Amino acid sequence: MLVGNSLEAGCRNNQEGETMPIEELATTLTTVWKFDYEPKIKALRDLYEVAKKDQWNAATDVPWDLEIDPSGDILDPSQDPFREFDFVKALPEEKQTDMAVRNAAWMLSQFLHGEQGALLCCGQLVEVVPDMDGKLYAATQVIDEARHVEVFHRYIKRLHRVYPIDPTLQAVLNQILEADMWQMKCVGMQVIVESLAMGAFKIMKEGSRDELLRKIVGLTAQDEARHVSYGLIYMKDEIPRLPDPDRDRIEDFAYSAVEVLSGRKPGTGMLSQMAIVEEIGVDPAVAIKEAMEKFTDPVFLAAQPDPFRDQVIPQLQRIDLITDRTAPKYRALGYEI
Ligand SMILES: [Fe+2]
Ligand SMILES: [Fe+2]
Repeated sequence: MLVGNSLEAGCRNNQEGETMPIEELATTLTTVWKFDYEPKIKALRDLYEVAKKDQWNAATDVPWDLEIDPSGDILDPSQDPFREFDFVKALPEEKQTDMAVRNAAWMLSQFLHGEQGALLCCGQLVEVVPDMDGKLYAATQVIDEARHVEVFHRYIKRLHRVYPIDPTLQAVLNQILEADMWQMKCVGMQVIVESLAMGAFKIMKEGSRDELLRKIVGLTAQDEARHVSYGLIYMKDEIPRLPDPDRDRIEDFAYSAVEVLSGRKPGTGMLSQMAIVEEIGVDPAVAIKEAMEKFTDPVFLAAQPDPFRDQVIPQLQRIDLITDRTAPKYRALGYEI
């Protein structure tokens, strides 16, 4: 992966005096001025109008006075694979609840960090895209993502605590932020990451028993749907214009993001989730052994939600980014193309 020498770690103190880590990522962006202000891509200009109308306020439009019941299903049951594991079922009930709360906090933390990645990326898009319609729309997404960072941070702090970003997720986000082509950023963030988030938020909205979280993800998913539309509208026109070598690079980049984030390739996926197991006092070797069995069992896998199968891959097909050259790789991961 591309997490490399451009990353620098450091620290800053927050208002409470705690030391908080920061990381710097050196990127090469070409800032593009555009002096033709007339609308050119009508669908993007229309989306900009919708985005201006559909703003909400994370501080006042969310019922923050609602209590969180940790014994209810915070996530949709399908988003907590651990609950089906024998080692979890063998735990006393309060430990099972503790495990479910930590799993929810871990997963929502990954969304929080992903929201920050989206905030950084669409800030870049304002600079690098060559069309005024694309810049204006991306500017609305900057405030959308700021709102998502605010709302998820506030919720997770009330639920439990913010977990660190998973290294696999961060590596993919860094690849998007470091990409030297704006179209690659657009495919990576707007089509792949946004589709992933939208799919997960829809499942959460339907299956969570926590009213506060349902409200938060409902509002957020409305925004994410717009963000995916931006990627699809823009890339549908842009991808066919690219020279073959550039198009091949974006196709390969899209495949590698699906490969590592889906966890379909052994040894990939967001493995830091297993840290939760240790926190509740279970031997991680026991959990890993059962996880290896479950995640290679076709019956177990078929019952799990798969936002790559249901959301990400269909969107990549819509913009012709899965071709005869790359389709066999997706099939090798078990996806029907
Ligand atoms: Fe977002
Ligand atoms: Fe988004």
